[in-house]
Amino acid sequence: MTPVKPVAADRLPALLRQMPKAELHIHIEGSLEPELIFALARRNGVQIPYASVDELRSAYAFTNLQSFLDIYYAGASVLITEQDFYDMARAYLVKAAQDNVVHTELFFDPQTHTARGVRMETVINGLHRACVDAQAELGVSASLILCFLRHLSEEDAFASLEQALPFRDLILGIGLDSGEVGNPPEKFARVFARCRELGFHLVAHAGEEGPPAYVWTALDVLKVERIDHGVQSSKDALLMQRLARDRIALTVCPLSNLKLCVFPDLASHNLRQLLDAGLAATVNSDDPAYFGGYMNENFTQTFAAGPLNAQHAYTLARNSFEASFIDDAAKRRHIDRLDATFEAFQ
Ligand code: HPA
Ligand code: ZN
Repeated sequence: MTPVKPVAADRLPALLRQMPKAELHIHIEGSLEPELIFALARRNGVQIPYASVDELRSAYAFTNLQSFLDIYYAGASVLITEQDFYDMARAYLVKAAQDNVVHTELFFDPQTHTARGVRMETVINGLHRACVDAQAELGVSASLILCFLRHLSEEDAFASLEQALPFRDLILGIGLDSGEVGNPPEKFARVFARCRELGFHLVAHAGEEGPPAYVWTALDVLKVERIDHGVQSSKDALLMQRLARDRIALTVCPLSNLKLCVFPDLASHNLRQLLDAGLAATVNSDDPAYFGGYMNENFTQTFAAGPLNAQHAYTLARNSFEASFIDDAAKRRHIDRLDATFEAFQ
Protein backbone atom coordinates (compact mmCIF):
# COMPACT_ATOMS: atom_id res chain seq x y z
CA MET A 1 0.00 0.00 0.00
CA THR A 2 1.30 3.47 -0.89
CA PRO A 3 2.79 5.16 2.22
CA VAL A 4 0.86 8.26 3.24
CA LYS A 5 2.35 11.31 4.96
CA PRO A 6 0.96 12.02 8.46
CA VAL A 7 -2.01 14.38 8.73
CA ALA A 8 -2.88 16.34 11.89
CA ALA A 9 -6.01 15.05 13.64
CA ASP A 10 -7.85 18.35 13.10
CA ARG A 11 -7.20 18.16 9.31
CA LEU A 12 -8.32 14.56 8.96
CA PRO A 13 -12.05 15.34 8.48
CA ALA A 14 -11.20 17.63 5.52
CA LEU A 15 -9.11 14.89 3.93
CA LEU A 16 -11.87 12.30 4.48
CA ARG A 17 -14.39 14.59 2.76
CA GLN A 18 -12.09 15.54 -0.11
CA MET A 19 -10.75 12.14 -1.03
CA PRO A 20 -12.43 10.46 -4.02
CA LYS A 21 -14.19 7.25 -3.01
CA ALA A 22 -16.58 4.56 -4.23
CA GLU A 23 -19.75 3.55 -2.42
CA LEU A 24 -20.50 -0.17 -2.78
CA HIS A 25 -23.23 -0.70 -0.17
CA ILE A 26 -26.20 1.63 -0.51
CA HIS A 27 -29.82 0.48 -0.73
CA ILE A 28 -31.41 3.10 -2.93
CA GLU A 29 -34.73 2.71 -1.08
CA GLY A 30 -32.76 3.51 2.09
CA SER A 31 -31.86 6.92 0.68
CA LEU A 32 -35.52 8.06 0.72
CA GLU A 33 -35.56 11.03 3.07
CA PRO A 34 -38.75 11.66 5.09
CA GLU A 35 -39.40 14.86 3.10
CA LEU A 36 -39.35 12.91 -0.18
CA ILE A 37 -41.52 10.13 1.33
CA PHE A 38 -44.16 12.76 2.18
CA ALA A 39 -43.86 14.51 -1.20
CA LEU A 40 -44.27 11.21 -3.09
CA ALA A 41 -47.15 10.09 -0.82
CA ARG A 42 -48.95 13.33 -1.69
CA ARG A 43 -48.11 13.08 -5.41
CA ASN A 44 -49.40 9.49 -5.60
CA GLY A 45 -52.28 9.65 -3.11
CA VAL A 46 -50.66 6.97 -0.92
CA GLN A 47 -51.57 6.88 2.80
CA ILE A 48 -48.68 6.56 5.26
CA PRO A 49 -49.24 5.96 8.98
CA TYR A 50 -47.35 9.10 10.11
CA ALA A 51 -48.79 12.60 10.47
CA SER A 52 -45.65 14.58 9.65
CA VAL A 53 -42.01 14.46 8.59
CA ASP A 54 -41.03 14.96 12.23
CA GLU A 55 -43.26 12.14 13.44
CA LEU A 56 -41.80 9.80 10.82
CA ARG A 57 -38.24 10.80 11.68
CA SER A 58 -38.88 10.26 15.39
CA ALA A 59 -39.91 6.64 14.59
CA TYR A 60 -36.30 6.02 13.49
CA ALA A 61 -35.25 4.49 16.82
CA PHE A 62 -34.23 0.96 15.99
CA THR A 63 -33.28 -1.94 18.23
CA ASN A 64 -32.18 -4.41 15.55
CA LEU A 65 -32.33 -5.06 11.78
CA GLN A 66 -35.99 -6.18 11.74
CA SER A 67 -37.21 -3.09 13.61
CA PHE A 68 -35.63 -1.01 10.83
CA LEU A 69 -36.86 -3.19 7.94
CA ASP A 70 -40.51 -2.76 9.05
CA ILE A 71 -40.25 1.04 8.64
CA TYR A 72 -38.03 0.84 5.55
CA TYR A 73 -40.57 -1.28 3.62
CA ALA A 74 -43.40 1.06 4.73
CA GLY A 75 -41.39 4.06 3.43
CA ALA A 76 -40.84 2.38 0.05
CA SER A 77 -44.62 2.00 -0.45
CA VAL A 78 -44.84 5.60 -1.78
CA LEU A 79 -42.80 4.67 -4.89
CA ILE A 80 -45.19 4.10 -7.80
CA THR A 81 -44.04 5.71 -11.08
CA GLU A 82 -40.80 5.63 -13.07
CA GLN A 83 -40.32 9.31 -12.15
CA ASP A 84 -40.51 8.40 -8.43
CA PHE A 85 -37.63 5.95 -8.81
CA TYR A 86 -35.72 8.52 -10.85
CA ASP A 87 -36.26 11.26 -8.25
CA MET A 88 -35.15 8.99 -5.38
CA ALA A 89 -31.95 7.91 -7.14
CA ARG A 90 -31.21 11.43 -8.38
CA ALA A 91 -31.44 12.83 -4.84
CA TYR A 92 -28.95 10.20 -3.63
CA LEU A 93 -26.55 10.74 -6.53
CA VAL A 94 -26.47 14.51 -5.93
CA LYS A 95 -25.53 13.83 -2.28
CA ALA A 96 -22.95 11.26 -3.39
CA ALA A 97 -21.31 13.80 -5.71
CA GLN A 98 -21.17 16.33 -2.84
CA ASP A 99 -19.32 13.70 -0.77
CA ASN A 100 -16.79 13.08 -3.57
CA VAL A 101 -18.22 9.64 -4.28
CA VAL A 102 -17.08 9.18 -7.89
CA HIS A 103 -18.45 5.66 -8.40
CA THR A 104 -21.32 3.76 -6.81
CA GLU A 105 -23.04 0.39 -7.18
CA LEU A 106 -26.65 0.78 -6.04
CA PHE A 107 -28.72 -1.99 -4.48
CA PHE A 108 -32.41 -2.09 -5.25
CA ASP A 109 -35.16 -4.41 -3.97
CA PRO A 110 -37.58 -5.07 -6.85
CA GLN A 111 -39.71 -7.56 -4.90
CA THR A 112 -40.72 -4.75 -2.51
CA HIS A 113 -42.28 -2.98 -5.50
CA THR A 114 -43.52 -5.78 -7.77
CA ALA A 115 -45.45 -7.27 -4.80
CA ARG A 116 -47.45 -3.99 -4.77
CA GLY A 117 -48.20 -4.14 -8.49
CA VAL A 118 -45.36 -1.86 -9.67
CA ARG A 119 -43.81 -3.29 -12.82
CA MET A 120 -40.14 -4.36 -12.95
CA GLU A 121 -39.57 -2.10 -15.98
CA THR A 122 -40.91 0.93 -14.05
CA VAL A 123 -38.35 0.33 -11.28
CA ILE A 124 -35.37 -0.42 -13.51
CA ASN A 125 -36.02 2.27 -16.12
CA GLY A 126 -36.35 5.01 -13.49
CA LEU A 127 -33.19 3.96 -11.64
CA HIS A 128 -31.21 3.42 -14.83
CA ARG A 129 -32.11 6.85 -16.23
CA ALA A 130 -30.85 8.45 -13.00
CA CYS A 131 -27.57 6.51 -13.36
CA VAL A 132 -27.11 7.67 -16.95
CA ASP A 133 -27.79 11.32 -16.04
CA ALA A 134 -25.43 11.11 -13.04
CA GLN A 135 -22.52 10.25 -15.30
CA ALA A 136 -23.27 13.10 -17.69
CA GLU A 137 -24.31 15.79 -15.21
CA LEU A 138 -22.57 14.94 -11.91
CA GLY A 139 -19.48 13.02 -13.05
CA VAL A 140 -20.51 10.03 -10.93
CA SER A 141 -20.55 6.56 -12.48
CA ALA A 142 -23.39 4.44 -11.12
CA SER A 143 -24.71 0.97 -11.82
CA LEU A 144 -27.38 -1.32 -10.38
CA ILE A 145 -27.27 -4.47 -8.24
CA LEU A 146 -30.60 -6.30 -7.95
CA CYS A 147 -31.13 -7.79 -4.49
CA PHE A 148 -33.32 -10.74 -3.60
CA LEU A 149 -35.23 -10.46 -0.32
CA ARG A 150 -34.04 -13.37 1.81
CA HIS A 151 -37.17 -13.50 4.00
CA LEU A 152 -39.06 -14.60 0.86
CA SER A 153 -38.67 -17.98 -0.87
CA GLU A 154 -36.09 -18.99 -3.45
CA GLU A 155 -38.99 -19.55 -5.85
CA ASP A 156 -39.93 -15.89 -5.42
CA ALA A 157 -36.31 -14.90 -6.18
CA PHE A 158 -36.41 -17.00 -9.37
CA ALA A 159 -39.60 -15.20 -10.42
CA SER A 160 -37.96 -11.82 -9.82
CA LEU A 161 -34.91 -12.88 -11.84
CA GLU A 162 -37.18 -13.93 -14.70
CA GLN A 163 -38.89 -10.51 -14.69
CA ALA A 164 -35.52 -8.75 -14.69
CA LEU A 165 -33.91 -10.72 -17.53
CA PRO A 166 -35.25 -8.48 -20.33
CA PHE A 167 -33.19 -5.71 -18.63
CA ARG A 168 -30.10 -7.75 -17.93
CA ASP A 169 -27.81 -5.29 -19.74
CA LEU A 170 -28.87 -2.64 -17.20
CA ILE A 171 -27.96 -4.83 -14.20
CA LEU A 172 -24.39 -5.29 -13.02
CA GLY A 173 -24.92 -7.84 -10.31
CA ILE A 174 -27.12 -9.71 -7.87
CA GLY A 175 -27.25 -9.32 -4.08
CA LEU A 176 -29.09 -10.74 -1.09
CA ASP A 177 -30.61 -8.59 1.67
CA SER A 178 -33.43 -8.24 4.27
CA GLY A 179 -33.75 -10.22 7.54
CA GLU A 180 -30.63 -12.31 7.91
CA VAL A 181 -31.00 -14.58 10.95
CA GLY A 182 -32.92 -17.74 9.98
CA ASN A 183 -32.44 -17.04 6.25
CA PRO A 184 -28.92 -18.36 5.52
CA PRO A 185 -27.26 -17.85 2.13
CA GLU A 186 -27.66 -21.54 1.20
CA LYS A 187 -31.45 -21.00 1.00
CA PHE A 188 -30.61 -19.26 -2.33
CA ALA A 189 -28.02 -21.73 -3.67
CA ARG A 190 -29.88 -22.60 -6.88
CA VAL A 191 -30.87 -19.08 -7.89
CA PHE A 192 -27.34 -17.75 -7.26
CA ALA A 193 -25.93 -20.62 -9.34
CA ARG A 194 -28.24 -19.53 -12.17
CA CYS A 195 -27.21 -15.88 -11.81
CA ARG A 196 -23.58 -16.97 -11.94
CA GLU A 197 -24.19 -18.89 -15.19
CA LEU A 198 -25.83 -15.75 -16.57
CA GLY A 199 -22.62 -13.80 -15.89
CA PHE A 200 -23.80 -11.44 -13.13
CA HIS A 201 -21.45 -10.25 -10.42
CA LEU A 202 -22.52 -11.72 -7.07
CA VAL A 203 -22.60 -10.22 -3.57
CA ALA A 204 -24.57 -11.02 -0.40
CA HIS A 205 -25.26 -9.54 3.01
CA ALA A 206 -23.70 -11.91 5.55
CA GLY A 207 -22.40 -11.53 9.08
CA GLU A 208 -24.33 -8.34 9.83
CA GLU A 209 -26.34 -9.93 12.66
CA GLY A 210 -25.91 -13.52 11.46
CA PRO A 211 -23.04 -15.84 12.47
CA PRO A 212 -19.68 -16.36 10.70
CA ALA A 213 -21.17 -19.61 9.29
CA TYR A 214 -23.31 -17.42 6.98
CA VAL A 215 -20.19 -15.70 5.63
CA TRP A 216 -18.64 -19.10 4.91
CA THR A 217 -21.71 -20.27 2.97
CA ALA A 218 -22.02 -16.96 1.11
CA LEU A 219 -18.45 -17.60 -0.11
CA ASP A 220 -18.51 -21.37 -0.61
CA VAL A 221 -22.13 -22.01 -1.66
CA LEU A 222 -23.21 -18.75 -3.33
CA LYS A 223 -19.66 -17.97 -4.52
CA VAL A 224 -20.02 -14.23 -3.95
CA GLU A 225 -17.21 -11.80 -4.79
CA ARG A 226 -17.87 -9.39 -1.89
CA ILE A 227 -19.50 -9.70 1.53
CA ASP A 228 -21.89 -6.94 2.56
CA HIS A 229 -21.29 -6.04 6.23
CA GLY A 230 -19.35 -9.16 7.34
CA VAL A 231 -18.44 -7.60 10.70
CA GLN A 232 -19.28 -10.80 12.60
CA SER A 233 -16.35 -12.48 10.77
CA SER A 234 -13.99 -11.30 13.52
CA LYS A 235 -15.47 -14.03 15.75
CA ASP A 236 -13.86 -16.72 13.53
CA ALA A 237 -10.06 -16.62 13.15
CA LEU A 238 -10.04 -19.10 10.25
CA LEU A 239 -12.63 -17.05 8.37
CA MET A 240 -10.54 -13.89 8.90
CA GLN A 241 -7.57 -15.70 7.33
CA ARG A 242 -9.69 -16.81 4.38
CA LEU A 243 -11.06 -13.28 3.77
CA ALA A 244 -7.55 -11.78 3.94
CA ARG A 245 -5.98 -14.46 1.75
CA ASP A 246 -8.59 -14.16 -1.00
CA ARG A 247 -8.87 -10.35 -0.74
CA ILE A 248 -12.65 -10.66 -0.31
CA ALA A 249 -13.91 -7.13 0.30
CA LEU A 250 -16.26 -6.36 3.20
CA THR A 251 -18.62 -3.44 2.61
CA VAL A 252 -18.77 -2.22 6.21
CA CYS A 253 -21.45 0.33 7.25
CA PRO A 254 -20.47 1.90 10.59
CA LEU A 255 -23.48 4.19 11.19
CA SER A 256 -25.85 1.37 10.20
CA ASN A 257 -24.15 -0.95 12.70
CA LEU A 258 -24.49 1.74 15.35
CA LYS A 259 -28.17 2.48 14.66
CA LEU A 260 -29.13 -1.22 14.49
CA CYS A 261 -27.25 -1.94 17.75
CA VAL A 262 -24.69 -4.30 16.19
CA PHE A 263 -22.08 -2.36 18.22
CA PRO A 264 -22.93 -0.25 21.29
CA ASP A 265 -20.91 2.74 20.03
CA LEU A 266 -18.51 3.62 17.20
CA ALA A 267 -15.51 3.38 19.53
CA SER A 268 -16.31 -0.36 19.91
CA HIS A 269 -16.65 -0.92 16.15
CA ASN A 270 -14.22 -3.50 14.74
CA LEU A 271 -13.29 -1.67 11.49
CA ARG A 272 -9.73 -1.11 12.71
CA GLN A 273 -9.42 -4.77 13.69
CA LEU A 274 -10.56 -5.85 10.21
CA LEU A 275 -8.02 -3.54 8.54
CA ASP A 276 -5.21 -4.63 10.87
CA ALA A 277 -5.94 -8.27 9.98
CA GLY A 278 -5.34 -7.40 6.32
CA LEU A 279 -8.96 -7.53 5.18
CA ALA A 280 -10.15 -5.38 2.27
CA ALA A 281 -12.69 -3.41 4.32
CA THR A 282 -14.55 -0.43 2.86
CA VAL A 283 -16.83 2.22 4.43
CA ASN A 284 -20.39 2.69 3.16
CA SER A 285 -23.71 4.25 4.22
CA ASP A 286 -26.20 1.33 3.77
CA ASP A 287 -29.47 3.29 4.30
CA PRO A 288 -28.31 6.88 4.80
CA ALA A 289 -31.75 8.47 5.21
CA TYR A 290 -32.46 6.15 8.15
CA PHE A 291 -29.06 5.84 9.83
CA GLY A 292 -28.03 9.47 10.21
CA GLY A 293 -25.57 10.08 7.44
CA TYR A 294 -24.22 9.67 3.95
CA MET A 295 -20.65 8.65 3.07
CA ASN A 296 -18.72 11.54 4.56
CA GLU A 297 -20.65 11.33 7.85
CA ASN A 298 -19.77 7.63 8.04
CA PHE A 299 -16.11 8.43 7.50
CA THR A 300 -15.84 11.45 9.80
CA GLN A 301 -17.83 9.97 12.70
CA THR A 302 -15.96 6.67 12.52
CA PHE A 303 -12.56 8.36 12.47
CA ALA A 304 -13.58 10.75 15.28
CA ALA A 305 -14.46 7.75 17.47
CA GLY A 306 -11.50 5.50 16.90
CA PRO A 307 -7.78 5.15 16.42
CA LEU A 308 -7.72 5.65 12.65
CA ASN A 309 -5.31 7.86 10.71
CA ALA A 310 -4.58 9.13 7.19
CA GLN A 311 -3.06 5.79 6.18
CA HIS A 312 -6.34 4.06 7.09
CA ALA A 313 -8.28 6.70 5.14
CA TYR A 314 -6.17 6.01 2.06
CA THR A 315 -6.51 2.24 2.46
CA LEU A 316 -10.30 2.45 2.81
CA ALA A 317 -10.69 4.66 -0.28
CA ARG A 318 -8.30 2.53 -2.30
CA ASN A 319 -10.09 -0.65 -1.20
CA SER A 320 -13.38 0.86 -2.40
CA PHE A 321 -12.03 1.20 -5.95
CA GLU A 322 -10.25 -2.14 -5.98
CA ALA A 323 -13.37 -3.95 -4.71
CA SER A 324 -15.66 -2.26 -7.24
CA PHE A 325 -16.81 -3.95 -10.44
CA ILE A 326 -15.38 -1.28 -12.79
CA ASP A 327 -12.70 -2.25 -15.30
CA ASP A 328 -8.98 -2.09 -14.51
CA ALA A 329 -8.39 1.10 -16.50
CA ALA A 330 -11.13 2.93 -14.57
CA LYS A 331 -9.73 1.59 -11.27
CA ARG A 332 -6.29 2.91 -12.22
CA ARG A 333 -7.72 6.35 -13.10
CA HIS A 334 -9.55 6.62 -9.78
CA ILE A 335 -6.55 5.43 -7.76
CA ASP A 336 -4.28 7.92 -9.56
CA ARG A 337 -6.69 10.71 -8.57
CA LEU A 338 -6.77 9.39 -5.01
CA ASP A 339 -2.97 9.42 -4.90
CA ALA A 340 -2.92 12.98 -6.26
CA THR A 341 -5.42 14.12 -3.60
CA PHE A 342 -3.25 12.73 -0.79
CA GLU A 343 -0.11 14.14 -2.40
CA ALA A 344 -1.55 17.66 -2.64
CA PHE A 345 -3.27 17.68 0.76
CA GLN A 346 -1.87 20.25 3.23
N1 HPA B 1 -29.40 -5.44 5.98
C1 HPA B 1 -30.24 -6.23 5.36
N2 HPA B 1 -31.17 -5.79 4.52
C2 HPA B 1 -31.23 -4.48 4.28
C3 HPA B 1 -30.38 -3.62 4.91
C4 HPA B 1 -29.41 -4.12 5.80
O1 HPA B 1 -28.59 -3.41 6.42
N3 HPA B 1 -30.72 -2.38 4.46
C5 HPA B 1 -31.72 -2.52 3.58
N4 HPA B 1 -32.05 -3.80 3.47
ZN1 ZN C 1 -27.31 -3.33 3.47
